[in-house]
Amino acid sequence: MSHDPPTYDDLSVRRFITATVLWGIVGMLVGVVLALQLAWWPANLGLPWTSFGRLRPLHTNAVIFAFTGNALFAGIYYSMQRLLKVRMWSDRLSSFHFWGWQAIIVSAAVTLPLGMTQSKEYAELIWPVDLAIAVVWVAFAINFFGTIAIRKVRHLYVAIWFYMSMVITIAVLHIVNNLAMPATLTRSYPVFSGMTDALVQWWYGHNAVGFLLTTPILGLMYYFLPRAAERPVYSYRLSIIHFWGLVFLYIWAGPHHLLYSALPDWAQTLGMVFSIMLLAPSWGGMLNGLLTLRGAWDRLRTDPVLKFFVVGITFYGMSTFEGPMMSIRTVNALSHYTDWTIAHVHQGALGWVGMTMFGMLYWLAPRVWNRPLHSVSAATTHFWLATVGIVLYIVSMWVAGVTQGLMWRAITPDGLLQYPNFLDTLTALKPFYWIRVVGGTMYLAGMVLLAWNLWRTAHPSARSLTPTATVEAA
Ligand code: HEM
Ligand code: HEM
Repeated sequence: MSHDPPTYDDLSVRRFITATVLWGIVGMLVGVVLALQLAWWPANLGLPWTSFGRLRPLHTNAVIFAFTGNALFAGIYYSMQRLLKVRMWSDRLSSFHFWGWQAIIVSAAVTLPLGMTQSKEYAELIWPVDLAIAVVWVAFAINFFGTIAIRKVRHLYVAIWFYMSMVITIAVLHIVNNLAMPATLTRSYPVFSGMTDALVQWWYGHNAVGFLLTTPILGLMYYFLPRAAERPVYSYRLSIIHFWGLVFLYIWAGPHHLLYSALPDWAQTLGMVFSIMLLAPSWGGMLNGLLTLRGAWDRLRTDPVLKFFVVGITFYGMSTFEGPMMSIRTVNALSHYTDWTIAHVHQGALGWVGMTMFGMLYWLAPRVWNRPLHSVSAATTHFWLATVGIVLYIVSMWVAGVTQGLMWRAITPDGLLQYPNFLDTLTALKPFYWIRVVGGTMYLAGMVLLAWNLWRTAHPSARSLTPTATVEAA
């Protein structure tokens, strides 16, 4: 074994961070436009390319695959090399992964507004782009497992297990759900039909949430939180139970998206039961994260990185409590089709995914650019903008969702629908849609502040490079 200090590939980390910030702004800006369109329809601009139906998948693809995807890769490339004490297996594959992923995002940004879609949620992209995703993902997987194979540390820290579950599961989900017969360059027919198609789609959809928006981020939490808090993980044993509990249970829970559908009753019940069981490992993980901060709580007052992590982990706990409740048939009868689902989604997305990724970026950027963070107070302002923005977003959507659900089922003493006009519910929801516009705009403003702060960290002006403000490296 060589005793030379390892040289790590931080260029890829810097590239993925830059892409995260760029696509984060684009994806969230489209989110704000969508929120505005729902409150004020003229924002559709009367053009097909900017209509809600085309911009919605652009938003979901941009925030899930471009913002979160690039952030995950940044964190994984950074932490993996340090945990395994070795450079990534192939610089060429790392570069191919980065540029290939960005090319896919650009093709999504072009095809979706043009109305080219497979009409499967979170898998809208047309078959040539799907093929490109499979190629780039396999290149990443080869690089990932190649790095594990040449590692200088025998033990695989739990974070690597979480990353591994993402690399394998996303490949399987993506390939199976997108199996299709191409008809033209932009159109194809899925190989599955009817209820089987729906089941495969939600097995994919739910596990995209599980293995892209949850497990890899937990892996990042297990690496970056102890580093930022300068404390070991509260319980390593619990983290292993957390991992196996999640990967075993998640994969069965997809049918909770198909309650009251033509899916056989036993399959719906199976999905419901596994979803309720998911509460246990999820809360085990949340507690493990929060308890890692024991003895470091005082630093929460001053350290924006820890503030972001604590709020992120708390939202993880809240959304993994709400999700199992929404999986119960009778609760789902009220929540399904309403803005309650949208509240749940963004509790996870803005709260857990967004806040944890922001914390990680503020911790990472000074280390990979080898300079102190440009402004701690701007990071703290970002924290408050985002936190208040999330609260406005999800509370307004909870109220809107429950209002909507109750109005739809309200019956007069004669047994007739009390609100037979769909428009009645829409007018009742309008004030809440405006509150979401305000909350979303605050969240986006925080994202722009992050971009400025990281830009100034990476490109400081000559004045801020005086000897008093020198390097604070890893
Ligand atoms: C500024 C921040 C954001 C705003 C204003 C926003 C707004 C919206 C709006 C208006 C919708 C459509 C809701 C509907 O159809 O009724 C939506 C859907 C969605 N957004 Fe966001 N969003 C933001 C950030 C994010 C982030 C960061 C993520 C993920 C990491 C995300 C994930 C999603 C998903 C998955 C859906 C589809 C939900 C479903 O089908 O049930 N959003 N968003
Ligand atoms: C124990 C964990 C969780 C369970 C059991 C769960 C359960 C559910 C349920 C029952 C729905 C509504 C399905 C429907 O009525 O159509 C739902 C929707 C959703 N959840 Fe969760 N959830 C969990 C955690 C999370 C987390 C942490 C996130 C985000 C990071 C998330 C993202 C979503 C998304 C994006 C949807 C909307 C899917 C769609 O219809 O387009 N969930 N979840």
